[in-house]
Amino acid sequence: MKSLLIIFTACLVVLGAQDFKYVGVTNCKMCHNKAAKGAQYKVWSGTSHAGAFETLKSDEAAKIFSEKELDGNAWESPECLGCHVTGYGAGGYEVKDEAFWNPAAEDKAGKKAVKRMAGLQAVSCEVCHGPGSGYKSNKTMKAVYAGEIEAAAVGLLSASEESCKKCHNEKSPTYKEFDFQTASEKIAHSYPEGMGQ
Ligand code: HEC
Ligand code: HEC
Ligand code: HEC
Ligand code: HEC
Repeated sequence: MKSLLIIFTACLVVLGAQDFKYVGVTNCKMCHNKAAKGAQYKVWSGTSHAGAFETLKSDEAAKIFSEKELDGNAWESPECLGCHVTGYGAGGYEVKDEAFWNPAAEDKAGKKAVKRMAGLQAVSCEVCHGPGSGYKSNKTMKAVYAGEIEAAAVGLLSASEESCKKCHNEKSPTYKEFDFQTASEKIAHSYPEGMGQ
């Protein structure tokens, strides 16, 4: 049994060498929205991270944008998207045209792509936990939770102060001093105490 586990882990390490893909927040919501397990999706929805893309359509964003004398729209600009969506420029969110957002009724692949892209239009789960393609299956998630496989081997990351500061820094036009402890408490979505499996 133990040697089987080692082989299994070794395979995952090999898999780890390949790129993990962003799957979008609806994929996480499916399993992480039960009250008995902390309803992480619901908690996240109540934070400003969930509305970070919409913020780029606000009057305040337009003002910041025009003061910088940039062309186009804030919600389509590389100057803003890097910190206001998931995985921009890294295989995640991309600016798409009308045709992409309105696939024909029979275009299943197109509809799936729209769902994924819409799920990346926010500072969502995968910004902090890593692209989900390698860890999102129930079997893998349970094995990570049980400590049977290493989270990093399937692309599941643990957010740190450094990872927050990729966006919470002076390059933000509205930068507010960032205290990791206080900020973490504001977005906390822990399991309820004593949760079993
Ligand atoms: C098919 C169901 C399923 C999907 C989809 C899923 N998860 Fe999970 N996840 C679980 C289960 C089951 C656990 C183990 C704990 C529990 O029972 O909730 C878990 C645990 C976790 C943990 C804690 C791991 C640990 O070390 O304890 C994180 C973080 C996590 N999931 C993030 C995500 C993110 C982000 C997504 C979307 C990209 C996602 N999950 C998609 C079922 C799922
Ligand atoms: C991809 C960029 C990005 C990362 C990484 C990121 N954030 Fe944010 N965060 C934002 C943006 C953008 C906003 C503002 C959203 C809005 O107002 O629309 C924000 C807002 C917040 C707020 C609310 C601030 C307020 O006063 O309203 C808190 C708290 C916060 N983030 C905590 C964290 C923590 C803790 C981490 C790391 C675990 C983190 N963030 C990682 C982009 C990011
Ligand atoms: C380096 C990352 C980063 C970039 C680039 C960035 N933002 Fe933000 N933005 C943030 C963070 C983090 C917040 C949360 C408040 C803070 O600390 O700045 C935020 C908040 C905001 C807010 C909400 C106002 C507030 O006080 O919370 C607006 C509006 C905004 N950004 C517009 C823009 C526009 C427009 C651009 C492009 C010109 C842009 N941002 C580029 C990280 C960024
Ligand atoms: C801004 C960063 C950030 C975002 C966005 C985020 N998380 Fe987390 N998440 C964290 C941090 C930090 C922790 C606590 C330390 C750790 O386990 O990495 C955590 C912990 C968790 C845990 C484990 C809880 C526990 O008590 O051990 C789960 C499950 C989880 N997140 C799921 C999600 C899901 C699902 C989403 C999206 C709906 C999400 N997270 C969005 C940063 C984030």
